[in-house]
Amino acid sequence: SPSDPDLVERARAAKAKLGDKVFVLGHHYQRDEVIQFADVTGDSFKLARDAAARPEAEYIVFCGVHFMAESADILTSDDQKVVLPDLAAGCSMADMATAEQVAECWDVLTEAGIAEQVVPVSYMNSSADIKAFTGKHGGTICTSSNAQRALEWAFQQGEKVLFLPDQHLGRNTAVRDMGMSLDDCVVYNPHKPNGGLTADELRAAKMILWRGHCSVHGRFSLDSVNDVRERIPGVNVLVHPECRHEVVAAADYVGSTEYIIKALEAAPAGSKWAIGTELNLVRRLANRFAPEGKEIVFLDKTVCFCSTMNRIDLPHLVWALESLAEGNLVNRIEVDKETEAFAKLALERMLALP
Ligand code: 13P
Ligand code: SF4
Repeated sequence: SPSDPDLVERARAAKAKLGDKVFVLGHHYQRDEVIQFADVTGDSFKLARDAAARPEAEYIVFCGVHFMAESADILTSDDQKVVLPDLAAGCSMADMATAEQVAECWDVLTEAGIAEQVVPVSYMNSSADIKAFTGKHGGTICTSSNAQRALEWAFQQGEKVLFLPDQHLGRNTAVRDMGMSLDDCVVYNPHKPNGGLTADELRAAKMILWRGHCSVHGRFSLDSVNDVRERIPGVNVLVHPECRHEVVAAADYVGSTEYIIKALEAAPAGSKWAIGTELNLVRRLANRFAPEGKEIVFLDKTVCFCSTMNRIDLPHLVWALESLAEGNLVNRIEVDKETEAFAKLALERMLALP
């Protein structure tokens, strides 16, 4: 979408006034009007690493969603302030695992006599509370770009993994990348007594998958893949691992947002691609690579933007930058000290993965 020239100018002026005091991070799913002001763009792993790259910046403006801003706060020093331009930019997947539900799940695993064998692995897309639970119980965080390495590490520490909160990333990594079978996985439903599982089912499982999913990626279907293959002969189907297992199984390539960008950069002219991930990114890539003769389409036209990623728009960014430039700290995301200490442990285990 074309951005309002007046707002563009105001954002530029506020950013110039702040100079090195501000560092703007932008996730690949952000709108074009916002991404143009990012000092760094990336997938959630790259942004977690890059957040700590500017220790002299007093303000880190995070153009992404709440759990990413929390992770940036955890990984940066106490005097750096992380700002989320719209506090309503949450993530429906992260909201599917609350601290109370996860504590209850651990009780169920303890009752079944297996808690000591279980290593939690939590997707980055989770609250700081869930990351702290993970750190406290000897587990690690993962993102879509290192989930396999995180699981390999976890299976060196214990016999079973509790994977939260995205059942699809957990299942896809275990089955597609690591050769486990679908029968090795069970789904723990936090809305049912004992997760809807018997103690025997829990004891037999290798992967205990939390019943969470992404509301955007969960909408791509096997029909989306079959339809696009029929419509565009020779198309390469490239999807994010948050998609459902049957979609990932039918795709040609699977990877994080950063992987998707790299794959398209390396693609030959004349190649055709159907991409199953968030629409802002797919549109940007289609526009970027069209002049090189690469045809890029959205995997399923009925799927929409991530509505919470889209909450960060140019007016919110301008408001945040102008407030900071006037010395008003707005929309700070600050994780409490105790949560931060355990969550940091889990995040640092991820950053230390080989
Ligand atoms: P990545 O950027 O790690 O691929 O994650 C996608 C996502 O859903 C972020 O919300
Ligand atoms: Fe959450 Fe899905 Fe949006 Fe990512 S795309 S922020 S996982 S709802």
